Amino acid sequence: MPIPEAASRRAAELRREIDQHNYRYYVEDDPTISDADYDRLLGELEALEQQYPDLIDAASPTQRVGAAPAAQFRSVAHLRPMLSLNNVFDEEGFGEFYTRLCHELGVDTLEFVVEPKLDGLAISLLYEQGVLVRAATRGDGAQGEDVTANVRTIRAVPLALRGDDVPPLLEVRGEIFIDKAGFAALNAAQSVNGDKVFANPRNAAAGSLRQLDPRITAGRPLSISCYGIGAIEGTERPPSQAATLSWLRQLGLRVSNEWQVLSGRSACVASYRDMAARRAQLGYEIDGLVYKVNSTADQERLGYVARAPRWAVAFKFPPDERETRVLAIDVQVGRTGALTPVARLEPVFVGGVTITNATLHNADEIRRKDVRIGDTVIVRRAGDVIPEVVRVVTAKRPAGTEPYVLPASVNDQDEARRVQAIIHFASRRALDIEGLGAKLVAQLVGAGLVRTPADLFALDAETLAGLERMGEKSARNLIAAIDRSRSTTLDRLLHGLGIPEVGEATAASLARHFGALDRIAGAPVAALEAVEDIGPVVAASIRSWFDDAANRELIVRLRALGVNWTEHEGAAAAATGPLDGLTCVLTGTLEDMTRDEAKSWLEAQGARVTSAVSKKTDFVVAGAEAGSRRTKAESLGIAVLDEAAFTVLREEPAAIGRLLDVAQSRPAGDNG
Ligand code: IVH
Repeated sequence: MPIPEAASRRAAELRREIDQHNYRYYVEDDPTISDADYDRLLGELEALEQQYPDLIDAASPTQRVGAAPAAQFRSVAHLRPMLSLNNVFDEEGFGEFYTRLCHELGVDTLEFVVEPKLDGLAISLLYEQGVLVRAATRGDGAQGEDVTANVRTIRAVPLALRGDDVPPLLEVRGEIFIDKAGFAALNAAQSVNGDKVFANPRNAAAGSLRQLDPRITAGRPLSISCYGIGAIEGTERPPSQAATLSWLRQLGLRVSNEWQVLSGRSACVASYRDMAARRAQLGYEIDGLVYKVNSTADQERLGYVARAPRWAVAFKFPPDERETRVLAIDVQVGRTGALTPVARLEPVFVGGVTITNATLHNADEIRRKDVRIGDTVIVRRAGDVIPEVVRVVTAKRPAGTEPYVLPASVNDQDEARRVQAIIHFASRRALDIEGLGAKLVAQLVGAGLVRTPADLFALDAETLAGLERMGEKSARNLIAAIDRSRSTTLDRLLHGLGIPEVGEATAASLARHFGALDRIAGAPVAALEAVEDIGPVVAASIRSWFDDAANRELIVRLRALGVNWTEHEGAAAAATGPLDGLTCVLTGTLEDMTRDEAKSWLEAQGARVTSAVSKKTDFVVAGAEAGSRRTKAESLGIAVLDEAAFTVLREEPAAIGRLLDVAQSRPAGDNG
């Protein structure tokens, strides 16, 4: 049916009006219409669209709940990775962060934008030609889950951006959350309906967003606060964080109105103290403040390390602390075989959740804190996540308690270690074997079917189906999941191997630096230490893991059973460092380091250090009172780096080419 001119004009008018009211309500927090009048406008638009369905498109405000329930969320790649933030917990930590940044940028004072750190879950909204086409959770930072149908139901998320300078493509980053009032109302309703109540607003927000049926999400009081930009096309990135926030708001996106531009360290600290005092009065929960270097150019200069920007930090509020009692101390076996004592506690509500266990870390920690069974203790959630015992309230210690002694071993320790190692190997951020959870791993190890991660790849559906509580279908599904995990990445594999001290970020650094597993396995400690973020302890741990025959055998078997991972031949040069292939000689006395230190540093960068100068020598590092070796180098026309040049090299090994050019073109005898 053709649409009468008047109908399409009215529909467009209604849309504009409704969008404007949404903006007033959600973005400006200043509604100019009653809820009833708003509903009337929406009702009129709905009626028109029903009469003339051609008026409907995805950006219409009537189209928030459209999609049918999904079977599962699709995985989607973010155009730009979604990062996390490094934390600081006190003024000293913030001061170090501030000083480091000033130093790196070579300035005395630095401008920041401070924003509340909302406690919800991160979301990426993709707008194409101003229309919301996709919303995705953070996931592993590179890929998230497509939750578009659910996010569309959130009224505070505009389905179309406002204004005339809408870019052709914009990835908006923000936090989905539930405010305090919404949380209370939601839990009241849940409890009336006999549904589960949520422990805290964060869990409620996450649970609501991950509903497979968007109609359920639509009934949840979700909101959004936008704080950044991922990918952007067709227009310049705003020159500052302040400009970004203002622009997002102009585009119709909800931005917190608690942000400020601050200059200097004491202004930053003052804003933190101020918010710590006001925090309880806010309408929503925050777990800290985020400080971001204001200038986009400075942000670019500072860059990123691992999965967090160096130009921002989360300054967390001190965690909630509560008193409770230690009912027992149990011992758990970790994936490396280490024993971890765990306090079983009288349940206590701390930092928004009920906790019943807290880690006591290790024997040293128990001795230091002198935690005993029966003690009254102060507990908190460290970094607001892992529950821990802060200290014992000794005044409340009952008579007759004894210091706790951690046993040297426990029953079935080896088996428990194997179970933990395999659980880790299969976990989501490692090989990601879907459906292989802790219980099943314990069952497989207990039945003697699996001893090492490699054994997983030798399993077959028939054997599995013979296990208790395992049907034929689940067995087939598990085999299929194991099969899918066979092709993986070097990062994931390294992480999954469970090398002590090697977490996800270190695994990624190693993979990037060396490019291939065999190069890591064969790398000397010095070469490992040359990797970003790897110090002597981690390097030694990696070396000794690969020196263990059982571990080398594990890798051989994984390969033999068809496990494969992407390797980068291109990284070969970087594998040994920027001085790869160069031969050098050390002579004279250096002020800053001993000859041995200089030698191991050079070797870590890939250079070969020899004692005699010959035509094959590429350069000589000459400290004070360098004698014949320096003279010989000069007579052969070999580049000589004095201590000043060597210092430059140490700060920037990649500058070697430039340094050698300069040193070589300088006439002999000129030390300047
Ligand atoms: S910025 C590149 N700003 O905190 C910077 N994050 O641990 C990455 N969050 O995943 C994040 N409020 O979910 C930023 N004002 C804010 C934030 C914020 C909450 C969350 C976000 C992120 C996590 C970082």
